[in-house]
Amino acid sequence: MSVVKINAVTVPKDKQDRFEERFRGRAGAVESTPGFEWFELLRPLEGTDQYLVYTRWSSHEAYEAWQSSQDFDRAHDGGGDTLAPAAPHSAHVWTYEVLEYAGPTANQENQG
Ligand code: HEM
Repeated sequence: MSVVKINAVTVPKDKQDRFEERFRGRAGAVESTPGFEWFELLRPLEGTDQYLVYTRWSSHEAYEAWQSSQDFDRAHDGGGDTLAPAAPHSAHVWTYEVLEYAGPTANQENQG
């Protein structure tokens, strides 16, 4: 059963551009990590001011291995401003397990 780890980050208005810019230049190492399934950076539009870094993993162990790896450290040591380095203990990490999921059903008429 997949596990979702979400890091909820509050970013001051004047730092948001920089924060997003840094994700555009992110290390890109997580993609090749064993057990990694999905990543999304979610920008808040309504109802909250927290960015969410959504990650999905094949197991708790896969996430823990990445989080204690050099790849994680390298992905978080750049920039040198107050958004980094990212100490895991200061992160607001939410943990979920995936109970149900679905994607779109192909619509024959819209294909081709
Ligand atoms: C206070 C804690 C954290 C902050 C402020 C933070 C912020 C950032 C920032 C700004 C980046 C872009 C790269 C950079 O410039 O460093 C990044 C990369 C990333 N962060 Fe965090 N992060 C934190 C902890 C975490 C945690 C606990 C997770 C787990 C869900 C996570 C997931 C990721 C992922 C998947 C990337 C992309 C890595 C890659 O491309 O290989 N972060 N983070």
